[in-house]
Amino acid sequence: MKITSVYDCTIIELDKHHHKKGNISVVENRKTIPFEIKRAYYLYDIPGGESRGGHAHKELSQLIIAASGSFSVTLDDGNVKRTFLLNRPYQGLLIVPGIWRTLDDFSSGAVCLVLASEKYDEMDYIRDYQKFVTYKV
Ligand code: TYD
Repeated sequence: MKITSVYDCTIIELDKHHHKKGNISVVENRKTIPFEIKRAYYLYDIPGGESRGGHAHKELSQLIIAASGSFSVTLDDGNVKRTFLLNRPYQGLLIVPGIWRTLDDFSSGAVCLVLASEKYDEMDYIRDYQKFVTYKV
């Protein structure tokens, strides 16, 4: 997806069920998000000052949730950059294909939950920023 922009990426408010014993938030395929979840993974025990991501995907869509704690996600479409602070477990950041992303400023104990539209495929990654810029034009 070459023509996507950072403005195609948005914060999605998830269903939030309040309960005196605690809260539940729900993500449903094609209802909460515009894709079918084929994979879920999560980042945790991230050392202070560490940065993750630093790549783009050609076809993968993702919803990124700060399931615990907080972190920043900087998106870059080769033209415009936008930074989102994720710090609410009932919000998800939708990232469309063709967007360079960097995750940093992880709080201690942060858990970054990622819901993804495809299975893991290293061939879908663009890990070189110059190749990404060339891919987008
Ligand atoms: P990567 O997506 O580069 O991590 P991040 O963007 O969080 O910095 O993944 C790091 C490594 O983990 C990758 O080289 C292979 C492995 N991995 C899998 O085996 N399956 C997966 O679904 C993911 C996301 C990563």
